[in-house]
Amino acid sequence: MTKLNDNYTQLKDSYVFRQVNEKAAAFASEHPDLPIIKMGVGNTTRPLAPTVLDALHGAVDKLSDEATYTGYGDELGEAYLREALSGYYKNEYGVELTADEFVLSDGAKSDTANIAGLFAAGSTVAVQDPVYPVYVESNTVLGNRIVYLPCTEENNFVPTPPSEPVDIIYLCSPNNPTGTVATHEQLQALVDYALENGAVIIFDAAYSAFIRDDSLPRSIFEIDGAKQCAIEVGSFSKWAGFCGVRLAWTAISEELRVDGVSLLERWRRRQLVMFNGPSNISQAGGLAVLSEAGQRECAEIIDYYRANASIIRESLQAVGLTVYGGENSPYIWLKTPNNKPSWEFFDELLENTQVVTTPGVGFGSEGEGFIRVSAFASAETTKTAMQRIANQSS
Ligand SMILES: Cc1ncc(COP(=O)(O)O)c(C=O)c1O
Repeated sequence: MTKLNDNYTQLKDSYVFRQVNEKAAAFASEHPDLPIIKMGVGNTTRPLAPTVLDALHGAVDKLSDEATYTGYGDELGEAYLREALSGYYKNEYGVELTADEFVLSDGAKSDTANIAGLFAAGSTVAVQDPVYPVYVESNTVLGNRIVYLPCTEENNFVPTPPSEPVDIIYLCSPNNPTGTVATHEQLQALVDYALENGAVIIFDAAYSAFIRDDSLPRSIFEIDGAKQCAIEVGSFSKWAGFCGVRLAWTAISEELRVDGVSLLERWRRRQLVMFNGPSNISQAGGLAVLSEAGQRECAEIIDYYRANASIIRESLQAVGLTVYGGENSPYIWLKTPNNKPSWEFFDELLENTQVVTTPGVGFGSEGEGFIRVSAFASAETTKTAMQRIANQSS
């Protein structure tokens, strides 16, 4: 008789973004005359860079001709793009990884979720609290035990090493949702813990392109010893506006062993069994992102979002609110006034300004009393939203 994986029943019913959308939709239908501004989600809005668009068009055109048409490609991602990523890591981070140490995929979301399947069911998994919900939900489905590492104002939203033994540690920097970035020292302490305790770090670098402060690490592999204990997941989504195009990578050094087994080999094996490689069109676009022109044009788009983040930070500070993040990240972590619960402040902002944010508590109990504001809207929309908040506060 068929049995279901009942771990699915352990998932919390209320996914924060769905609840936010429901509340916003209910408000809009009750007040059709009051236009809503969405400052909640982490979806990109700027058009793709011209160099990248050319490459995407070129890749589509190739599919129109028998002579240049391609079907299935390398399940692990095309060698040309893995080579280009290897070069990028060397030039940008001074990190030596071969092309074979990169495995391409259709998203960092799926990679951070799927990679947990390499470890024994019942593993203990540490996550930051507040946390990008995917790590918790994917590990819950696998039957793993979750340990929460509080990320608070006191520790600048970067956790200290776990106080109990854990097998896997998810880290996200620049962080979603707090917008804060871990320093070399903070990451070194976590890498040292992992090396001493035989734990594996899964480092989500989806927002690394937002880091412009040279003193901050953009890759976990900039940290001594990380090759022996860490996996890095990167994405073209926020870097190049590929949220809808879909392209990402996972980097694992040959040096990383668990029980003497190469984790890179296991991950390659997993992808060969269950994945057919990312789209050939998006990979052509990815190569263009890594070109000199592509990098420059994508950096300009990131600058646009970074400017929005500055406007949000400054506007909220000007009305006396406390904010974190938003300097090397597209997210601003706003402390609610008078320690109001997140949802109460969310409702107030919606009612009084029609600005939709994301309640921090939706990312974990340590997010209570915070709201996440995203810099991915247009500059005009961002300014209007901040003006409404300023008017309401005056
Ligand atoms: C921390 C983090 N990781 C991964 C993702 C998803 O990346 P991708 O679009 O490559 O699946 C997101 C998307 O918002 C994110 O916030």
